[in-house]
Amino acid sequence: MSGTESAASSTEPFTAAEIAAIRAVTPGCSDDLIHLNHAGSSLPPQAVLDAQFGHLQREAVIGGYEAAAEAADRTRATRASIARLIGATPSEIARFGSATEAWMAAFWSIPMAVGQRIIVHDHEYGANAIAFIHAAKTRGVIIDRVPSDEHGQVSVDAMAERLQHADDVALVSLTHVPTNGGLVNPAAAIGRLTRAADVPFLIDACQSVGQLDIDVDEIGCDFLSATGRKYLRGPRGTGFLYARTSILDRVTPSQPDHHGSDWSSTDDYTFVRGARRFEYWEFSHAGWLGLGAAVDVALDLGLDRIEVTVAERASQLRTMLTDLGLTVYDEGLQRCGIVTTASSNIASTDLKAALSSRSINASTTSAGSSRYDVERRNLPNMLRLSVHCTTTVDELKRAIAALTSILQN
Ligand SMILES: Cc1ncc(COP(=O)(O)O)c(C=O)c1O
Repeated sequence: MSGTESAASSTEPFTAAEIAAIRAVTPGCSDDLIHLNHAGSSLPPQAVLDAQFGHLQREAVIGGYEAAAEAADRTRATRASIARLIGATPSEIARFGSATEAWMAAFWSIPMAVGQRIIVHDHEYGANAIAFIHAAKTRGVIIDRVPSDEHGQVSVDAMAERLQHADDVALVSLTHVPTNGGLVNPAAAIGRLTRAADVPFLIDACQSVGQLDIDVDEIGCDFLSATGRKYLRGPRGTGFLYARTSILDRVTPSQPDHHGSDWSSTDDYTFVRGARRFEYWEFSHAGWLGLGAAVDVALDLGLDRIEVTVAERASQLRTMLTDLGLTVYDEGLQRCGIVTTASSNIASTDLKAALSSRSINASTTSAGSSRYDVERRNLPNMLRLSVHCTTTVDELKRAIAALTSILQN
């Protein structure tokens, strides 16, 4: 199992026949659509739809609370599946409606005092950066931004230096796979440092869970946040937080309710055991069951094989784009399924629209999502093409042919 280094070289990517089989049970995979927006929201397998529709049907026919009671075992199983996916225990998983909600629950639970440092990196996601700035404004913390190394990933040496005297450090935050930039940050190397310094380590794994083989013990993080809809191929409006058991005594959920806490006496409450203390009572049961189905599909396929397949396809796409004369902006020693490019002649938003009119889904990057990186590298708005293990070489060739024709006209 990896999460930071490339999956073992003995792991083979899916064969064409295996990819065809995965596509056959993914309704969105068809000759009529080329989906290169898995980093936005991927295409769910039929099993995910079945789990959601099945539950919605039961809610409509027997009532929402009654359907929840009927599905209690499957609802619990989702937590267990997620735990298996990342090498955690079920009590360390909290459900959320998005990665941001999960990340915020963790971030705002961490004690921060005036003058303490929060150590972050250039590839932080926009939502997280807003929280840093807000914490600086409202709690008086100092944002200590660790630079990138010559490969564009977080500088492990600079982090080590920052953590040499860690008494004033409230937390280390890292985005595992940035929303743009193609890289996989060396999370385990950072985790070794935060453990040695005994500093809480929060990792945003929104773009990495589902495309990389992740193990929270290998990474050494205390918190990890993720979404359902991206590389896990789950439903929109789902996400989860991993909270290591040993961190729970050091943090305090910032806005607890009567699901995450027991209202034990008129004027007091106690947090429930485990990560569930971060949750609220209400949630989309259909979405959560769909997420469980998505995780089970990924586990059945094997995250190690998904990882090498995605990496291979993205690498092929980078070569094709470079051959077309476009700049590829991706960084990092280890790269993933997110590929960013731009043309000097046509705005990325126009490229995206032109691709869309040819039934090719892509997205664009914006400064608001990754301003630290945009300013550091002086990046243009980029076209983001993200592949998954369902993406075929033929689809890439057709997308490149479409780009060629758009650029020539
Ligand atoms: C790196 C990263 N972190 C967090 C998020 C936020 O995820 P969500 O929209 O599920 O809150 C995104 C979304 O694109 C992301 O790319």
